[in-house]
Amino acid sequence: MDVQGRRLGPSFTTRAYAKINLGLRILGRREDGYHDLMTVMQNVDLFDTLSFIPTTSGVEVRCSELPLLEGPENLVHRAAEMLAEGFGVKRGVRVVIRKSIPVGAGLGGGSSDAALALRVLNFIWGIGASYEEMFELALQLGSDVPFFLRPGTAIASGRGEVLSYVDAPADVSYIILYPGFPVDTAWAYSEWDRRKMRLTCTDNYIKLLACSKASGRLEEGIYAEIGNDFEPLVFRRYPVLGSLKEELLSNGAIAASLSGSGSAIYGVFEGRETAGKVLKGLRLAGIEAFVCCPLVQWQDSGLWSR
Ligand code: C5P
Repeated sequence: MDVQGRRLGPSFTTRAYAKINLGLRILGRREDGYHDLMTVMQNVDLFDTLSFIPTTSGVEVRCSELPLLEGPENLVHRAAEMLAEGFGVKRGVRVVIRKSIPVGAGLGGGSSDAALALRVLNFIWGIGASYEEMFELALQLGSDVPFFLRPGTAIASGRGEVLSYVDAPADVSYIILYPGFPVDTAWAYSEWDRRKMRLTCTDNYIKLLACSKASGRLEEGIYAEIGNDFEPLVFRRYPVLGSLKEELLSNGAIAASLSGSGSAIYGVFEGRETAGKVLKGLRLAGIEAFVCCPLVQWQDSGLWSR
């Protein structure tokens, strides 16, 4: 347990946004055990709220809704300790997390919280590290943490850390369904290895991403191609997820998919009205559902000097 210091000043409260993967292709296993992939990371306006309270010493993370998340292995805790050690910071922080992003859902909640902690502590501890320095720390915390340092829409390759930010169509909304249980990402990748899945790197999706990168704007046709290579494996073990996807498609979604390795399933809807109606129906049926919009622009909170 960390020795807690005295409070040192006003708290700083801000949001950590979730992401969905607009398509995901696994290209192969690498020598370091990770997998090369191609995906589009899209921030959405489903968020956790984090309050950072500067203290004289120690790192403490509180999450009253989910006390299990409070240990030193919490990514926010690790981010803070890494930063303090790396930059010789002599002060502390208490972070209070109000969780709305489901955990273990492929929505990047823990990663987004951690990236936000890096950005905010860089600011309130007066470190002044560059984006590039933070990027290195972020990648040590997890493959998708670097993306959350600069929210928006990005085509991601490598482990998920080679990022090309693009503009994205804004006139859609998403319904995200959480089935009430998590899916273990490491398990999903090992299942992919075990089944020696075919490589899909020459498909239309990859071509669309190449065009999007070149134009700096995500091609509209992306929604027709948002297949996710984890789906066959994850749906086999959790058939309810396949049914949730069908439910969204039969309710007017123009496309639907697993996010990351799951467990969340999302549907894409034109405009907001249909999504609102469908959401009501799903909630009446007892399904945990959120309606979200894409965050299409880099929401610069002034924490980086770009
Ligand atoms: O990077 P992160 O800690 O989020 O990854 C969790 C697990 O997912 C890794 O231990 C690894 O098994 C798997 N993974 C992978 N290839 C990636 C990302 C994650 O194999 N590109």
